[in-house]
Amino acid sequence: MVKIPFFWDYGNPPRNRRDEKLQTVGEGDPIFIQKFKGLRAIVEQKVDIQHLKVLGITSSIAGEGKTLSCALLGRELAATGRKKVLLVDVDIRKGDLTRGMGLRRSPGITEYLLGSATLQQVLKATDVPNLFLVACGAETSSPADLLAGEKFKSFIKDMRDKYDTILIDTPPILAVADTLTIREMADGFIVLCRAGFTPRGMLKQALEELGEKYVLGAVLNCVEGRSDHYYQKYYGSYYQKSKPPLALVSEAKSRAAGKP
Ligand SMILES: Nc1ncnc2c1ncn2[C@@H]1O[C@H](COP(=O)(O)OP(=O)(O)OP(=O)(O)O)[C@@H](O)[C@H]1O
Ligand SMILES: [Mg+2]
Repeated sequence: MVKIPFFWDYGNPPRNRRDEKLQTVGEGDPIFIQKFKGLRAIVEQKVDIQHLKVLGITSSIAGEGKTLSCALLGRELAATGRKKVLLVDVDIRKGDLTRGMGLRRSPGITEYLLGSATLQQVLKATDVPNLFLVACGAETSSPADLLAGEKFKSFIKDMRDKYDTILIDTPPILAVADTLTIREMADGFIVLCRAGFTPRGMLKQALEELGEKYVLGAVLNCVEGRSDHYYQKYYGSYYQKSKPPLALVSEAKSRAAGKP
């Protein structure tokens, strides 16, 4: 049985609209944002204490929330101003992270690894301060072979000097060999699973294939039953949906100061 050092549940986050950029998902939803900041705190403590830099985001099968979590964790880590964060999209078959961040596929990691683009050309700024992205690049017939080469290894080594945290969005472990191919280059993986969706046996198999020493923790996405209503009932007063109008603020201050 693989030991999972931390387990975090997302709550019941908002559906993101098709046209919405990944880096803005959940903005305006204070419950979701607080849950995500909690995940950030756990990850940040872990990376600081254990001196980790390169984290893979993975899962057993497709559609468990890897890409969304990678983008939002990157956004939240960058938002503290303490970390310069790089996202690397190695799900070359899909390129969802690249598309979701609103950037072009090429030049990206495939062009860099094939030698047709320089590092400067593939390191792209996003519209979030301190958050950068290496796009997936053009599709290639065998991403696993490309990622297995020495050049990807030295790319990750170079990135360790340039960024504080590197988050790699990967394809599902049980579907293709890409994630296991790059396993050695990461300091560990955050494994996503989706409530009511991921078969238990598949999660177990994926964790075993990845190997215990690479599992940093797990995130349970889309948890049923933890609705906004649940959070509002128990913690509602902590979440301020919108600020009160300024007139009300000054009125309250006057009252507190004993003015009429
Ligand atoms: N917590 C969530 N709340 C709302 N929508 C979500 C949530 N997590 C994921 N989704 C949506 O579910 C779909 C799959 O999520 P995502 O692309 O992040 O999964 P993935 O694990 O990266 O999938 P794949 O293996 O296909 O790359 C996306 O449309 C995403 O926006
Ligand atoms: Mg994905």
